[in-house]
Amino acid sequence: MSPNAGFRAIRGGRVAPGFADADQTETELHAAMAHRYIIICMIAREQAWNILCEFTKSEGLRKHALAVETCVVAYAGKLGEDQHAWSVTALLHDFDWEIHPQLPDHPIKGEPILAERGVDEETRRAILSHANHSGVPRVSPLEKTLYACDELAGFITAISYVKPHRSVFEVDVASVKKKMKDKAFARSVNRQEIVDSAQELGVPLDEHIDFCVKAMQARAEELGLKGGV
Ligand SMILES: [Fe+2]
Ligand SMILES: [Fe+2]
Repeated sequence: MSPNAGFRAIRGGRVAPGFADADQTETELHAAMAHRYIIICMIAREQAWNILCEFTKSEGLRKHALAVETCVVAYAGKLGEDQHAWSVTALLHDFDWEIHPQLPDHPIKGEPILAERGVDEETRRAILSHANHSGVPRVSPLEKTLYACDELAGFITAISYVKPHRSVFEVDVASVKKKMKDKAFARSVNRQEIVDSAQELGVPLDEHIDFCVKAMQARAEELGLKGGV
């Protein structure tokens, strides 16, 4: 259906019977149609996955995208936000890392590529905002959540790999906090960013860690973190 088709069904401020809820006002219908239009414009998760795989050959980076997606979508469910939109954003947040491995380039030079592929502005803005050097401030719940889940999801994955069974089921809040103090472990993970981003999100750090660990446990098999447990 064309995004505008519904508007033709409006009669005198009310909706024509048979098309939609007859009690819906014109304003309500416009809002509903605008929302539907946004959904139509948004790329599908499968398209996002295909874009990620086109530019990202590393299995580890693909798994990182899935891990961040897992945590971000879990938050979308908790907050009553759009899980589909949040999923697409998380999947694509590092899509250009292999072609733009230098920080000033990632994700800034990747953004026009996403625009060409039809990725909407809200998603592209959120992706830019996960990099402090982009200068795009994190304002929306999606932007704050993506930032808060990015480093932590990577850190939980790294901890899982060094557990006896290489399993996320062996990870808990205490083990994450302990590894955060171990400076020699996973040096590339910015501990301060984990702390600051949870604060920015407005969630106590322990609660945030617990939430992400449990979200990743629920999808352990797909993330390759089920281990031998
Ligand atoms: Fe990134
Ligand atoms: Fe990332």
